[in-house]
Amino acid sequence: MELPVFEDTELFARGVGESTDVVRKEMYTFEDRGGRSITLRPEGTAGVMRSTIEHNLDRGQLPVKVYYSGPFFRAERPQAGRYRQFYQVGIEAIGVSDPLIDVEVIAVAHRALKSLGLTNYRLEITSLGDGLTRANYLKDLRAYIAGLELDEETSSRAEINPLRLFDDKRPEIKAALTGAPVLMDYLTPESAADFQTVCELLTQLGISYQVNRRMVRGLDYYTGTAFEFVHEGLGAQSGIGGGGRYDGLMEQLGGAKLSGIGFGLGVDRILLACEAEELALGSASDLDLFIVPLGTSRQSLQIAEELRARGVRVDLAFGDRSLKGAMKAADKSGARFSAVIGQEELASGQISLKEMSSGTVKSVTLSALANHLTDGDDF
Ligand code: HAM
Repeated sequence: MELPVFEDTELFARGVGESTDVVRKEMYTFEDRGGRSITLRPEGTAGVMRSTIEHNLDRGQLPVKVYYSGPFFRAERPQAGRYRQFYQVGIEAIGVSDPLIDVEVIAVAHRALKSLGLTNYRLEITSLGDGLTRANYLKDLRAYIAGLELDEETSSRAEINPLRLFDDKRPEIKAALTGAPVLMDYLTPESAADFQTVCELLTQLGISYQVNRRMVRGLDYYTGTAFEFVHEGLGAQSGIGGGGRYDGLMEQLGGAKLSGIGFGLGVDRILLACEAEELALGSASDLDLFIVPLGTSRQSLQIAEELRARGVRVDLAFGDRSLKGAMKAADKSGARFSAVIGQEELASGQISLKEMSSGTVKSVTLSALANHLTDGDDF
């Protein structure tokens, strides 16, 4: 799904939640020329929901499964691994309430991280329970919070959603909350059974995890299963991805009463994690051929275009470069092969193809060149 980069401010205020740090402090909100309040998307789930409702995607086969990727914006204090424009790859599965799909979603994220070669991370999971869980829990949590001495701003935030106090980074607030009731102790039998199923299935799939009884995700829409991938080598900004179930969100945004679950992976932090684990991030170049024209720029450009049309990845030297300079460019390009094309080569139709890694040279006809490079013909 390609989502717009900005949406009505209202969507995030309602979807992500008025009491969250994201909505209170981190949104890039502007007035457009028509006097409408718009906000650069701080996350993707609310936009996916808005679009699913608007285009009736939930009227067909369920679950609706989508993915998205691109830039997101939060006005946070920039530091290593925390940016004001960052990138996420996310998926959402809408319309099926089944712990099996929770596990499927977690498995996709896990597989993505593993496929990059990452190993030094852990999966933390929790359950935020259902409506009844939350009602019982919030009653006790509010009572606990009422006994604390809080400044006005903090109390008003706790008033809207007491869970948000757990996002507070100040040591005195953290200390004050150490004795607070823990949501997982309030799970209804149904929620506890679902969570149990999620845990068992993760084990069955060989995905190791730790239950984090105190995890509170920073966005208000979460219910039931919630999870985070935490990398050990990143310092403070260690969350490389996270997600969970959001069963009331669609209805709250004016849609059907459908459940959903998804995740967002933080691309920037994943790249930092790859660096920390010294993983190579693919080859710098995918070029098959670098052409060095020798007084044949126009014809060489034509040859390059013909080869490209046949699927060969080609670059060539431009401008009045010396042969030496152009050969250097060929080296730097990372191409597998290079070829010098002068008048002689054009006249004979025979060129010397040089394999860059070995330095081996082989004579091939211009007409056979594309096959050589695409079919991996023996060199
Ligand atoms: P989130 O936990 O707010 O969840 O963000 C997901 C990931 O985005 C984080 O784990 C982190 O890696 C990355 N991230 C967040 N803020 C920044 C930042 N300022 N700089 C760099 N990276 C950042 C969501 O956004 C939910 N929409 C995920 C979701 C999808 N839940 C259900 N479906």
